[in-house]
Amino acid sequence: MSTAAAKTQLVKKEIEHLASTALSADELMQDMVKKLNQRMLKYNWVGFYLLESVPGQPPVLVLGPFVGAMTPHTRIPLNQGICGAAASSGKTVVVHDVTSDPRYLACSIETKSEIVVPVFVRGKVVGELDIDSHFPSAFGPDDQELVEYCARLLGKQLEKFRP
Ligand code: SME
Repeated sequence: MSTAAAKTQLVKKEIEHLASTALSADELMQDMVKKLNQRMLKYNWVGFYLLESVPGQPPVLVLGPFVGAMTPHTRIPLNQGICGAAASSGKTVVVHDVTSDPRYLACSIETKSEIVVPVFVRGKVVGELDIDSHFPSAFGPDDQELVEYCARLLGKQLEKFRP
């Protein structure tokens, strides 16, 4: 196993522990963003967006717990940004070079690459985990697996609190 793969396996275990002790989904989101930012050195901005669905209005992604600089994008419609693309398709989006993706909404001029992973509750997208890096191509297959694992654990936690 490569050093990078071993590191992501270790961080997965640490996240699993957080999920087993968190008393609420909000606490788990706070713990996860802190842990990912502290342990994964290229994860420079880590945050959740939660889907707000108000009857009669188009759904919008609302900024939730995050670590990193404040972003101007606190509310993102589903037809905008990498975030909107991940939420509307229900698929992970990895962008190795944000300057080459016309969908990209800039949060910091330092951001070079980004991964956005949807969070599901009973098969429906309820939010997403968004990570920005100051390094190009920071998110490889091991990173994708780790971030998708976090999103799955949060989905399970939300299911407990949204009967
Ligand atoms: N870059 C995202 C916007 C959110 S900020 O990165 C925190 C996007 O393109 O949707």
